[in-house]
Amino acid sequence: MKHLIPEFDAMRRRYPPGTESSLVLPCLRRIQEDRGFVADSDIAELAEYIPVPRIQIEEVLAHYTQYRRAPIGRWHLQVCRNLSCSMRGAEGALGHLCRKLGIEPGETTADGRFTLSTAECLGSCGTAPVVMVNDAYHENMSPARLDALLQELHK
Ligand code: FES
Repeated sequence: MKHLIPEFDAMRRRYPPGTESSLVLPCLRRIQEDRGFVADSDIAELAEYIPVPRIQIEEVLAHYTQYRRAPIGRWHLQVCRNLSCSMRGAEGALGHLCRKLGIEPGETTADGRFTLSTAECLGSCGTAPVVMVNDAYHENMSPARLDALLQELHK
């Protein structure tokens, strides 16, 4: 994490004195972009840098599902399971992906290519069911569209 300190310093200059604890979210985001997940050592170093109690960073990590505590696959597929998506076939989409990838939600394929997760509302209810792949939305996902997506990701 230490090589990110110059970036964190630049962010810090935009925060009024006394509000440094607000840096936790953007710093964690940048750490995750850099490493792919937030390691224990990152938490310790960030708690020292800001400074905030370590538990405050742990709470943020526990609350926001977009932060990861362990490495995941090259492609992170998140299937929304909230109401609109459920009503439009999210369970079927999830089952389809489980069968195709041979994994359950929370698992990564043996080749490290795919991690499958479920998610709460992804904020695109009008185009349900929705699957996120890394930072990209894939909407109105039918089994055929999921197959085409997987084929694309295998390239
Ligand atoms: S319920 Fe799935 S995007 Fe809102």
